[in-house]
Amino acid sequence: MAARIIDGKALAATVRREVAEGVAALVAGGAPKPELAVVLLGDDPASHVYVSNKVRQTEAVGMHSRRYLLEASTTESQLLNLIEDLNRDSSVSGILVQFPLPSHIDTARVVTAIRPEKDVDGFNPLNVGRTAAGMEGGLVPCTPLGVMRLIKSVHKDIAGLDALVVGASNVVGRPMARLLLRELCTVSIAHIKTTDLERRCREADILVVATGVPALVRGRFIKPGATVIDVGITRIRSEGFEKLVGDVAFDEAVQVAGAITPVPGGVGPMTIACLLANTLSAARTQATRRKAAAEPGTVAFG
Ligand code: GUN
Repeated sequence: MAARIIDGKALAATVRREVAEGVAALVAGGAPKPELAVVLLGDDPASHVYVSNKVRQTEAVGMHSRRYLLEASTTESQLLNLIEDLNRDSSVSGILVQFPLPSHIDTARVVTAIRPEKDVDGFNPLNVGRTAAGMEGGLVPCTPLGVMRLIKSVHKDIAGLDALVVGASNVVGRPMARLLLRELCTVSIAHIKTTDLERRCREADILVVATGVPALVRGRFIKPGATVIDVGITRIRSEGFEKLVGDVAFDEAVQVAGAITPVPGGVGPMTIACLLANTLSAARTQATRRKAAAEPGTVAFG
């Protein structure tokens, strides 16, 4: 029997609706409108498209947005100064610096400079550490957060399931594994040096693939009934047409899996929806802290 197709577009619309309601409730309670600041260096066309989508969707759920389009030649210290200004600006709830950054800029220094409570990408080491320690309340990277929502649309409870994450990037693979572990899955990570990928994939009840290698995972790799989440998205030319393909050979996998995300229309739409959710969550935390700080005799901490 063919797998259930997990509809990321529909779930992303639900998340956006929830965020819009959350924004309205926050503002009705007297807090300022949340605001997302997005910073982009250089003229990479794909990054410009991503940033425009982020800004448009932020405004569509009732939040403010700001966009800083900087030259690729911007120095690291100029970028760090801008981040510090945004850190101090109380009207900014969330800061996102679009990757990839030009090679003269140290990405680790940039993510560390963003204050953890405004780090809507969840890349600051403090937020990374919170998730790694199994703690709730930190900001979590958007794509893995979206993948968890997709998995939970299939499974009520994932504790005890075998999960394999293929790909060990800081943006997807590693945070994904930390989230699955926090939910008590038995988690493995496969990466570029992993041997016998096929056998390892076949042991997984939940298989998350994030490598950027088109059709790396074939139908025969998949455990019958498994939930397969395909994070990859690559533009290829096939028979004279351009098309988007994932890291999983969909036509084969759909015959074996229990549930599977399509490409496009699976993980992609969830990433920006979860960025909006993170921005709302950051704004809520900041509003709570401001309120606590304004109340006499209360000590604000965190
Ligand atoms: N470039 C590709 N994915 C991402 C992401 O999740 N966050 C940022 N900041 N840049 C990206």
